[in-house]
Amino acid sequence: MSAQRVCISDFEEEARKVLPKAVYDYYRSGADGQHTLADNVAAFNRWCLIPRVLRDVSTVDLSVSVLGQKLSMPVCVGATAMQRMAHPAGETATARACKAVGTAMMLSSWATSTIEEVMSAMTTLPGDSVLFMQLYIYKDRELTLSLVRRAEEAGYKAIFVTVDTPYLGKRLDDVRNRFKMPPHLSMANFSTASLAFSEDDYGDDSGLAVYVANAIEPALSWSDITWLKKHTRLPVIVKGVLNGEDAVQAVNYGVSGILVSNHGARQLDGVPATLDVLEEVVKAVQGRCDVYMDGGVRRGTDVLKALALGAKAVFVGRPVLWGLACQGEKGVVELLQFLKDELRLAMALSGCRSVSEVSRSLVRRVDFSCRM
Ligand SMILES: Cc1cc2nc3c(=O)[nH]c(=O)nc-3n(C[C@H](O)[C@H](O)[C@H](O)COP(=O)(O)O)c2cc1C
Repeated sequence: MSAQRVCISDFEEEARKVLPKAVYDYYRSGADGQHTLADNVAAFNRWCLIPRVLRDVSTVDLSVSVLGQKLSMPVCVGATAMQRMAHPAGETATARACKAVGTAMMLSSWATSTIEEVMSAMTTLPGDSVLFMQLYIYKDRELTLSLVRRAEEAGYKAIFVTVDTPYLGKRLDDVRNRFKMPPHLSMANFSTASLAFSEDDYGDDSGLAVYVANAIEPALSWSDITWLKKHTRLPVIVKGVLNGEDAVQAVNYGVSGILVSNHGARQLDGVPATLDVLEEVVKAVQGRCDVYMDGGVRRGTDVLKALALGAKAVFVGRPVLWGLACQGEKGVVELLQFLKDELRLAMALSGCRSVSEVSRSLVRRVDFSCRM
């Protein structure tokens, strides 16, 4: 019998024991010195909660609407590549788990399951299936648009275009491990070995860094947002904005949303923790589009702090991979349920009966000078 898990970090400890080292390293790593990796998590401790009392919290409603989709909580599953390295059912297990707890999943362009099979895994369970497509823009634009069209046809609800990856960040463990996919797996949405990341030899580097340099568009610019919007009827959200000026640009280019993200600290090391720039982005946007955030969310109180600083919802990355590695679909359900239960308790103890009652006054920046 597995040891009883009581919080999200228990999943990581267990996953580390069951995953092959190179896989665990790929999932866990941040870029370079991994300063931002630690800071994404630490940032949540720089904000404290100021609860309200005597507010009858006998019922607490966690439901939200994200991009027109009703979800049971403001916590969605973010795009993480190559999930079949964690569990044989990979992305299909994650999708079913999201459906079971009533939330949305963002599927990576680099999934090890196809766009269509992830949707059909989800639709076998009753209720609405909410899938978003994460899009990398390839040098080959027709190929890029074919991913968009397939997502539209399969019933995905939005396109999250990743804008922080003109090149892959330098993840030292992946270079040391010469990271590539196990030979029985491939990026399932592509048909050639070069695009499916299943070549035999990527030299001495991280195989994924070589893949990105070969295939992904480094010349990406704002005009590509216009191009993408012209070719899809789905809402377009930019994933990877970290400051108010880019947020205003994104609004001017007509996006439906902004995901404040530093790619789980895997791209440029030394950038701020996402929680610390969230409010700047929210203020710059002035309600003209939705703002979401990801990075370092590990507890219900983290979710609450992000909501108080203006996020409409948060996305979680690594924890879901740990849930998958521990116990497949069941593991991800348990993990998401933990986050939901923790958020419900945190809201109740703060005097918030619904997400709309979570306001800016609920959080205060910890003043370290007063603590000395
Ligand atoms: C193993 C792994 C793979 C990822 N793959 C992708 C990807 O394919 N596309 C993408 O836009 N972001 C990708 N991300 C970034 C996540 O979408 C997200 O921004 C990040 O994981 C959030 O931080 P967290 O892991 O601390 O929750 C990946 C992150 C990890 C950890």
